[in-house]
Amino acid sequence: MAHIWRGVINEYAGYIPEHIKKTVVTLGEGGIPLIRSSAIEHRLSNFGLQAEVYIKFEGRNPTGSFKDRGMTGAISAEKAKGTSAVICASTGNTSASAAAYATAAGMTSAVLVPDGKIATGKLAQAIAHGAKLLQVDGNFDDCLVIARGLAENYNVGLVNSVNPNRLQTQKTASFEIVDELGDAPWVHAVPVGNAANISAYWMGYKEYSDAGNAVNKPVMWGFQAKGSAPIVDGRRVENPETIATAIRIGNPASWNLATAAVEESGGLFDAVTDEEILVAHRILSSEAGVFVEPASAAPLAGLLKKAEHGKLKMAFDELAQIRTGIPKIVFTSTGHGLKDPDWALYDVNLKPKEGSQPIKVKNSIEAVANILEL
Ligand code: F0G
Repeated sequence: MAHIWRGVINEYAGYIPEHIKKTVVTLGEGGIPLIRSSAIEHRLSNFGLQAEVYIKFEGRNPTGSFKDRGMTGAISAEKAKGTSAVICASTGNTSASAAAYATAAGMTSAVLVPDGKIATGKLAQAIAHGAKLLQVDGNFDDCLVIARGLAENYNVGLVNSVNPNRLQTQKTASFEIVDELGDAPWVHAVPVGNAANISAYWMGYKEYSDAGNAVNKPVMWGFQAKGSAPIVDGRRVENPETIATAIRIGNPASWNLATAAVEESGGLFDAVTDEEILVAHRILSSEAGVFVEPASAAPLAGLLKKAEHGKLKMAFDELAQIRTGIPKIVFTSTGHGLKDPDWALYDVNLKPKEGSQPIKVKNSIEAVANILEL
């Protein structure tokens, strides 16, 4: 039977609050199939581990990141309220998504981004969709304080993930995973910045299993970047630093929700270095065939580190007491590589990568064949 994907609100209407469903604004987000990666399974087998590994590649969303899942909820609810202008703070992806959905809803948008630390592709998106783009002389956390203050004092809707409507639709990513696998995976790994996504996933897994659609829930593993790891360090980071600019956040707004998700699920938080992130980024692009932005490589970096240190084996052994079959891992790659493509051109030491320049060649079959050593 013909079926046009109608976006996550309509597809999962039974799980979405009424006030979000009144006036649905969608760009057809979600409906993203898992990618099973034999290359990454092979990497794990080098550590003596047998597992099925699936990538939830959220870069396939309409604006190229997972933010669209939450934004459809936030903008739909604002539309129903009659809001005409929305605002957000962003490391880039939220601003791209907010700008696109606001435009589709006939609203104006303004986005606050930290000075000088936003990937070009994301800035271009916000501008293309007509957002008023303000670069604040401060970091993401400063931008969020301003955005909250504006929404409290002026007639403008806040569409950051502190807006609960965001999580209500962002949680659908878990539903899709369970629908495909028939149950929750054993382990689910995500990158953590402002800490909403890991919270939304956990909310989704709980709701879906409470509704009888899954027998189990996964353990949630959250990975932060080393220079921006407030939850791992147990304290705010005043000047967060990492090449993974999407998760360059020192004071996550959903800190408590994320901690609850990890505790309730029996999971963990850990930090990965920029170098580990770039190694995982390279594995994803050159072995798995999936091009992501650096933040999106953090969960694979974390999983490989845990595999190397024997921690993944320990987790599998423990989970084997309640789960059967081959362990299943899902990790979320949150944003598309085209947002921040420069990283394809650098090696793990941040030096220009060998072979990243095109080879100039004469306009002839023979010349090209020669260079390709055919
Ligand atoms: N990955 C990417 C690509 C992101 O853009 C973000 C967050 C995260 C991971 C972390 O998700 O904040 O829910 O823990 N980006 C936000 C933004 C902060 O403004 O685009 P989180």
